[in-house]
Amino acid sequence: MSLVVVNDLSKYFGNDGDTQVHALEHVSFEIANGEYLAIMGPSGSGKSTLLAILGAMSPPSSGTLVIDQIDVYALSQEKRADFRREYLGFVFQQLQLIPYLTAVENVMLPLVVTNHKNKRELAATTLERVGLGDKLNRLPSEMSGGEQSRVAIARAVVNNPPILLADEPVGSLDSKTGEEVLGLFKQLHSEGQTIIMVTHNPESIRDAERLVQLKDGRIVADLMTKDVIPATKFL
Ligand SMILES: Nc1ncnc2c1ncn2[C@@H]1O[C@H](COP(=O)(O)OP(=O)(O)O)[C@@H](O)[C@H]1O
Ligand SMILES: [Mg+2]
Repeated sequence: MSLVVVNDLSKYFGNDGDTQVHALEHVSFEIANGEYLAIMGPSGSGKSTLLAILGAMSPPSSGTLVIDQIDVYALSQEKRADFRREYLGFVFQQLQLIPYLTAVENVMLPLVVTNHKNKRELAATTLERVGLGDKLNRLPSEMSGGEQSRVAIARAVVNNPPILLADEPVGSLDSKTGEEVLGLFKQLHSEGQTIIMVTHNPESIRDAERLVQLKDGRIVADLMTKDVIPATKFL
């Protein structure tokens, strides 16, 4: 049984008629536990729309999303919020670190609403996991871009969510910082983390196992990257 089952998802914006945008049309695929999947496509192809639906943040116009045998959009809003917190970690292009909180305090944020004991200890252990064990008490402004990205990723996985979702995680980063982020994703994947990464940058997909390509809201390719990586070198 796949961890994620996307069945015939469509998403329309606006009312019926000429102005209605068909952001996703009849998209179906499955994601296995532990898989590292990249979703690519040109601007406007529906990547962010799909990620928002996968992230339990935006109900589809039709179709279903089943994660761990839970029909996500059949849940009440409140139950869906609980589901999101338990199952999903998010890394956004804008890191959204709180500037006046230290690294360890930023990573503790998702734990505030949980009943974890030893929140600070768990946040510290997670920062160690991403190589920032010696920077726990730094403010974001006292860290490099790559370190700030690591804090954001630590915050996304501190709860040990089964799925990590990332939207253009290296989109705005210089190449060295981008390398750090991709290296960390690779590490988390090797530790068993399921990762779904949206990107329009071919270089970002090199460690992903699988590539789903979108165009005009439809899947136009679904490939194992080991078969396509040589070709992307020429893009
Ligand atoms: N909230 C919205 N209202 C209206 N149209 C939207 C909205 N969000 C996205 N769209 C449209 O849906 C299409 C897909 O957008 P998006 O998923 O953001 O694409 P991508 O992330 O691949 O650039 C685009 O035509 C976009 O303009
Ligand atoms: Mg987008």
